[in-house]
Amino acid sequence: MRARLEAMYKQAQEELKKVESISELEGMRHKFLGRRGVLAQEMKQLKTVAPHERPVVGKLANELKEMLSSEFSKRFEELKQLKSRGEEGRLFDVTLPGKKTRLGKLHPVTETIQLIEEIFGELGFKSVCGPEIETEYYNFDALGLTEDHPARDEQDSFYIDKGILLRTQTSPVQIRIMEKEKPPIRIIASGKCFRRDATDASHTSMFHQVEGLLVDKRVTFGDLKGVLEVFAKRMFGSEVRMRFRPDFFPFTEPSADASISCIMCGGAGCSSCGGSGWMEILGAGMVDPEVFKKVNYDPEKYTGFAFGMGVERIAMLKYGISDIRLFLENDMRFLSQF
Ligand code: DAH
Repeated sequence: MRARLEAMYKQAQEELKKVESISELEGMRHKFLGRRGVLAQEMKQLKTVAPHERPVVGKLANELKEMLSSEFSKRFEELKQLKSRGEEGRLFDVTLPGKKTRLGKLHPVTETIQLIEEIFGELGFKSVCGPEIETEYYNFDALGLTEDHPARDEQDSFYIDKGILLRTQTSPVQIRIMEKEKPPIRIIASGKCFRRDATDASHTSMFHQVEGLLVDKRVTFGDLKGVLEVFAKRMFGSEVRMRFRPDFFPFTEPSADASISCIMCGGAGCSSCGGSGWMEILGAGMVDPEVFKKVNYDPEKYTGFAFGMGVERIAMLKYGISDIRLFLENDMRFLSQF
């Protein structure tokens, strides 16, 4: 009987290893430990054992019963956990193919920001950031966009409270940095901007900008052109040419818009560049002396340049993307291409 008991214990352990669901486990418990189960049947045989051996065999039977029931309980807890994770029954199916782990990657807008920061980083520009919720003072007034300025209307925006809004541009970071630090200044600031624009293929109410600012003694427009040309060639390829045209921004004087030769046709004129051969990529200019006065810099002593670009626009030009909304749709077919 002792040998049978031990064999039963072994068999129960083997079966326990293979059991994959709680209902199977309950069936097994019944089979081995139930009132009419294998162990109960064995116990009935105890009377056939020689009297002097009975206590030993009885004790063994009890011990095995205890051990089995604690092993059953342990397995029960394991299966319960698997079930709660929806994996009950799957544990031992070694024939199933493994689960493929999909590697995540950065969003193309983030990658573009990082590339821009890397290029300017090599030119000595330090990356900084500013708040997305701004005061009217930093977002508009300090930048020469006074209350009645028409450009303020153009950037009609999301107000949080009186005088407090979601920033419409990254330019306020210029002011925040100049208030805190003394020249020489060489910074790049990237982040989200918000405007109440109707959404279409080239507008979304949330988008990203990168702002640049350099202030020092004897900084010229030539320096600005040189820096931006290095940037454009690194970003779009060494064959790219740049064009500057006069423009207006309330915080730079003179101001310019910068274009690159069309990356589709190389400048000959095609549908991508509207036949002009040029694609606009950013606004720039020499920091207006009025801005310097706002931050207590002496405009006689310092000059500087600033520029600002839309990150989505840069990415669209670089990768040939025709609709800005694609950046926000979370469509893996689009995102996995970058
Ligand atoms: N903040 C401007 C905009 O959103 C872009 C810009 C233009 C930034 C000229 C500058 C600059 O720093 O000098 O349209």
